[in-house]
Amino acid sequence: MNTIAAKFLKVFLAVVLFGGLYLVAVAKHDERDRIRQTAVELTPDCKAKLEAYGLAAGPVYRSPYLVRVGGEAVEVSGYSEEDVRAIQRGCNIIDDLQGFVAGGEGLGQRWNATRFVRGTHTTCSHCHQNAGDKQDEKGNRIQGSNNLGASWVMADMYDRFTGLILSHELRQMQCYINSSNGFKPNIADDLLRDVTAYSRFIAAALDLKIGNRYLEQGMDEIPASATNRRGDDYVRGAHIYREQCASCHGQQGFGLVQDGRVIYPAVAGRNSFSLDSRMNFAAVNTIMPGFICRNMPPGAEGTLEGQDCRDIAYFLSTLPRPAGDLQGPLYAVWQQLMMIVMPPLTAYADSLRSSSPRPVAH
Ligand code: HEC
Ligand code: HEC
Repeated sequence: MNTIAAKFLKVFLAVVLFGGLYLVAVAKHDERDRIRQTAVELTPDCKAKLEAYGLAAGPVYRSPYLVRVGGEAVEVSGYSEEDVRAIQRGCNIIDDLQGFVAGGEGLGQRWNATRFVRGTHTTCSHCHQNAGDKQDEKGNRIQGSNNLGASWVMADMYDRFTGLILSHELRQMQCYINSSNGFKPNIADDLLRDVTAYSRFIAAALDLKIGNRYLEQGMDEIPASATNRRGDDYVRGAHIYREQCASCHGQQGFGLVQDGRVIYPAVAGRNSFSLDSRMNFAAVNTIMPGFICRNMPPGAEGTLEGQDCRDIAYFLSTLPRPAGDLQGPLYAVWQQLMMIVMPPLTAYADSLRSSSPRPVAH
């Protein structure tokens, strides 16, 4: 009798457990479907960009951009209402990863993107500027501006950083892990799908053809061989950083957050990209100098020399930041320790410097 009762209980518990899991899965599925159906509240930048590109549901799509630059209306197959919402969500994720600007059902519409990111600083468009499609005042595309449409058409691409051929989705993933110092979304996650839908739309709007390499893809890099001195200088880097960058990014590179919103992103410390990020000089030493020379300081872009940018990037790479996957647990602990110990020491050294008389230049 007892054994029958025990067996019954086992079966009952198994049914409750698996039935419960099934119901959770169904509920999650319904929630995803509901989010996919919800109208998207766009950030101002995404609204302007998608409007200018004439995004709307319909049987054919003609890019106003192409009409403007080439006078020719290239017709491609259009988008369903659902596609349009995916593209809109994708733009929001790039422009406003943390959900600071456009609310829309809390963070639900961004598939709770922040669960893949450590800290509250990172937004993709800090490095993939103007929602991954930077243009100058005249609306011309810019070489080496890390454009996501140009990245999408590259499809599978050799990644010198991991040494692997990576699809566009896997390259997105790399940026969650390293550039946002965060965690890996699933390859089939709606988060990646929406960003892919958006990137693909940018490619269509700019008439970029799949399989081609365009100059807007990736960063405009500055190798040591492109400068005269061919040796990077930490002291010069630290000096220029203090003069030209610290007013926004802070003496220690921690950036500025006001009312829970990032005004200036962190370029060092725990809210910054990790040691494995391609933005980190120590990982690939040509990329960050290129970013700095092209894009910083805002409003005075292009005023720094190639060597200045290399020096600053070298200096930034020495500041403590989170370790990445490649460094292993011991190094990660070391970096954590450095992030605690170094800031007060640096602040102390800075206070000594500012109280001693300045050396006179001869
Ligand atoms: C700290 C700066 C930074 C942040 C933040 C960042 N990225 Fe990147 N991303 C880069 C750099 C640098 C590269 C490599 C560019 C190169 O190889 O020239 C890159 C490359 C990529 C690529 C591949 C581009 C190509 O064609 O090789 C994709 C896709 C991408 N990022 C998506 C994202 C997404 C999505 C986010 C937000 C979750 C994000 N990135 C956040 C700096 C950043
Ligand atoms: C006027 C304020 C300001 C100044 C000065 C400035 N930056 Fe920035 N920086 C920003 C903003 C804002 C962003 C985010 C990018 C965007 O929104 O276009 C940024 C982004 C960056 C990034 C990439 C973002 C990330 O997450 O790593 C780096 C690296 C960077 N700046 C370095 C520098 C360097 C080096 C200098 C000095 C030459 C400098 N900045 C000067 C405001 C500034």
